[in-house]
This record gives sequence, structure tokens and C-alpha cells, in this order.
Amino acid sequence: MSKLVGGCDDEDELAKLHSASRDWGFFQVWLIKYHVKIQVINHGVPDKVILKMKADIQEFFSRPLQEKMECAQLPSDIQGYGQAFVVSVEQKLDWGDMLYILAQPQDVRNMRFWPRVPSSFRATLIQYSIELEKLKGILLSSMARNLGLEPEKLLTLFEEGVQGVRMNYYPPCKQASKVIGISPHTDVVGLTLLTQVNEVQGLQIKKDGKWIPVDPVPGAFIVNVGDVIEIMSNGEYKSIEHRVVVNPEKERLSIAAFHNSNRNAVIGPLPDILSKEQKKRAPNYKSISYQEFLKLGQKATLEGKEKGLAHHLKIETEAAQ
Ligand code: OGA
Ligand code: NI
Repeated sequence: MSKLVGGCDDEDELAKLHSASRDWGFFQVWLIKYHVKIQVINHGVPDKVILKMKADIQEFFSRPLQEKMECAQLPSDIQGYGQAFVVSVEQKLDWGDMLYILAQPQDVRNMRFWPRVPSSFRATLIQYSIELEKLKGILLSSMARNLGLEPEKLLTLFEEGVQGVRMNYYPPCKQASKVIGISPHTDVVGLTLLTQVNEVQGLQIKKDGKWIPVDPVPGAFIVNVGDVIEIMSNGEYKSIEHRVVVNPEKERLSIAAFHNSNRNAVIGPLPDILSKEQKKRAPNYKSISYQEFLKLGQKATLEGKEKGLAHHLKIETEAAQ
């Protein structure tokens, strides 16, 4: 990562990022070098920020239910403590609890859902979310270069975009094969930055029809291209289906930070990509407003559309059929 900070032109690193985004849609970033750069520009030590975030999350989920319920979800909001996507009492739920909070930009925060215990939680999450915004910026500008765009292009589209942080707690289950931590889905956002909090494996991604486990690597972030980047790149980068399986003996925790484009952005293949190398390419996806995209996203999530919104908005051409 350090080779990509500040818009350096390291061809090798840019090429690696490009093939990871294009061929996998999922990759891990080691922060060992990256945090050195952050120290240089005086933003503290991200290692500490990550460790503190992990500790506070573990503490929160270990509190008595009654305490956690102080941040409980409300019918009108997707934020808070509870379970994901509960639509009926008959539904089989995913095997996990979550705390979902909108952390950035500041104007979207609703402190009602932010835990008071542990007492450091709020400050820790703010710190964490600021550091992730920086990482998002580095990744987006490098991706833009790789896609043949102006380096600022994706940054501008994602500036002031909402960052939602979903903190997941998966209890162990003796009959692990009978439950699922998170059902197969793609992330209906731009870019997800995921931390596996403890060393328990559970995340799996689909590659060539097979489920592949992603091993936890201490100090690494998992980067996941979401539906929005797939659409904007006209399909060059892929939003990959993934799921979480449950461990029979050990609990598992993770933190997924979802980065959305800004609220005025049109979600569609970028004109600069369609006219790359002076060739006019056909758009592979429909273009819609951010608001329409959000509505579709909620619907797709409730209906459990595994292939996600990029798939939903795909324009089927005769050649592709
Ligand atoms: C998610 C997700 C994976 C994990 O929250 O969208 O895919 O490892 N989480 O918890
Ligand atoms: Ni996901």
C-alpha cells in the first residue's frame, strides 16, 4: 500500500491492484507499510486504532443483553443493535448479531445507536472511520488510474459518501452446517473494507462456482469491490458473491465498513470508461440516481438477491446471451 500512497507511479503495485480488482473483486491489504506513511503525516498509529476498535467491539458484544438493547434497532431505521434484515417472525435468521452505525460524514450520525459502554467506544469508532476514509481515498485513486480515469474521478464521486459500519458477532453453533452467519450476497455499495477481529475463519467468497475461505491475516484489511464500482467500471471490476459460515466451537467477530458514493452521484458506467481509447463502448449496466439505487438496494437485500444489484441492472445484449 505504501507504494500507492500519495499517487505514486509504481507500475508493479498498480498492476497488482488492477488484477486483484478485476479477476477477484476481493483482496487483502497489509497495513504494515501503510501506517508508517500515516505516522509521517501525523495522524497517529492506525495499528493502535484497529486494535482499540477490536477491543471495544469485543467488549460491547460481551455486555449483558439489556445493556446492548440500549442501542437496539428501531422499526424506522437500519441502524442499531439487532439482527440483519428481519422481515417476518417466520423467517430463518442468519446466525449472528450486529451493530450497524452510520459513521461518516458527521451529519448522518445518530448518537442514539452509538454504545456508551465501553466508554471509549464512540471516540474509537470515529477514529477508526476517519482512518478508513483515508484508505478508501488511496484505493479509489489507484483504481481510477488503473481504469484509465483521472486519478481524482472516483474520489470526487465518493467524496462525502456515507460510510456505514457493520460490526458482526457470530456465536458458535454446535450444528454449524445447519446455520449460516450471513447468507450469500454481494455488497450493495462502492467499496467494503473488512477487518476480521479475531482469528476465527468464516468468510468465504465465490470463485468459479466454488466457495473459497478467506484466512484472517492480522493487521490486514479485506477489500471488497461492491456493486457500485462494478457498475461504474462497466463490469471491469467485479462485485463478488460472499457468505459467512459459523464455527462449531468458537465465536467470530468482524467489522465491515461500507463506503457509498456521494448522494448526488449517478450510478452507472462512467462516460470516461465508455469512451476509453477513443473507442465507444456500449454500457453494460443501466444508469440510475443514487436515491433509486438505495431503494432498489433495500428491496434486493430483503428479497435476498444473491447476485446483487450490478447483476440486476445489467443490460443483456444479444452478444452476451
Ligand atoms: C458483510 C459481510 C463478512 C464477515 O457484513 O456484508 O460480508 O466476515 N461480512 O463478517
Ligand atoms: Ni458482505
